Amino acid sequence: MQTQKIPGVKHVIAVASGKGGVGKSTVTANLAVALAKQGYKVGLLDADIYGPSIPKMMGVEGEQPGVTGTQGEERIIPIEQHGVKILSIGFFLPAKDPAIWRGPMASNALKQLMNQGQWGELDFLLIDLPPGTGDIHITLINELHVNGAIIVSTPQQVALASAIKGLNMFRNKDIHIPILGLVENMAWFTPEQHPDEKYFIFGKENCEKFAKEEGLELLERIPVVQGISESGDAGEPVSMDSDSITGKAFHALAEKVVTFSSTKRFYYVKDN
Ligand SMILES: Nc1ncnc2c1ncn2[C@@H]1O[C@H](COP(=O)(O)OP(=O)(O)OP(=O)(O)O)[C@@H](O)[C@H]1O
Ligand SMILES: [Mg+2]
Repeated sequence: MQTQKIPGVKHVIAVASGKGGVGKSTVTANLAVALAKQGYKVGLLDADIYGPSIPKMMGVEGEQPGVTGTQGEERIIPIEQHGVKILSIGFFLPAKDPAIWRGPMASNALKQLMNQGQWGELDFLLIDLPPGTGDIHITLINELHVNGAIIVSTPQQVALASAIKGLNMFRNKDIHIPILGLVENMAWFTPEQHPDEKYFIFGKENCEKFAKEEGLELLERIPVVQGISESGDAGEPVSMDSDSITGKAFHALAEKVVTFSSTKRFYYVKDN
């Protein structure tokens, strides 16, 4: 399949899930900030055309990206925050206006962000996908050279049952995008006041078992912590503090992403 590379961008990594609300955007925002704090040049493309949450999570809601270039050759200048270059369809929609678009409109909006974004030199461009396997995914896979994908799931059976659809999309023999591995989000609950306690409210070994069955690396296990959600709402991802317990988890994930990308030791999962 003929896909395009974005000039100057070394690694494009998509973050996907089967089910919605499992923490893709939280993981993508924190991973982006962690990579930037580790000294990498990072871009973040919010491809969730229907419910863009990156502007809020990165603290740039309501910002308006500038446009440069001559007519017909316009380039959109990403907003920079926490060391990350960000573009989101959310910048172009009124905050309370739901985007009820037909597939082709959504696909065109994504293509514009990909192709007209003035990304410059990047080590990593992370793509926060909508849940499932819809038009946006197909557009991304057909148009852009994606170096790898991360699958996010909670340990609930319903989340894992749909994660498999996301996996199958990437490892389809015509697409064959390497999977870096699985991020288990909401792995356990730890009360803020009792950091040593772990309550496995959604199942203790489900993700580990799933990863083993599918030949995936379990990249990181992120607990449910109030601070993760609060900092997301406040636009200051927890990974800004690399010493906090949750910050450490995202920094460890970032290190794995770097290793995989530099060694190309991506896990190719079994063909379907
Ligand atoms: N580990 C966590 N601890 C606490 N809260 C979390 C955690 N992960 C995500 N959340 C919260 O859960 C909600 C859903 O997370 P998020 O928006 O990242 O999911 P998503 O998979 O991107 O959703 P969508 O499918 O709608 O795009 C958010 O309010 C977020 O702050
Ligand atoms: Mg999201």
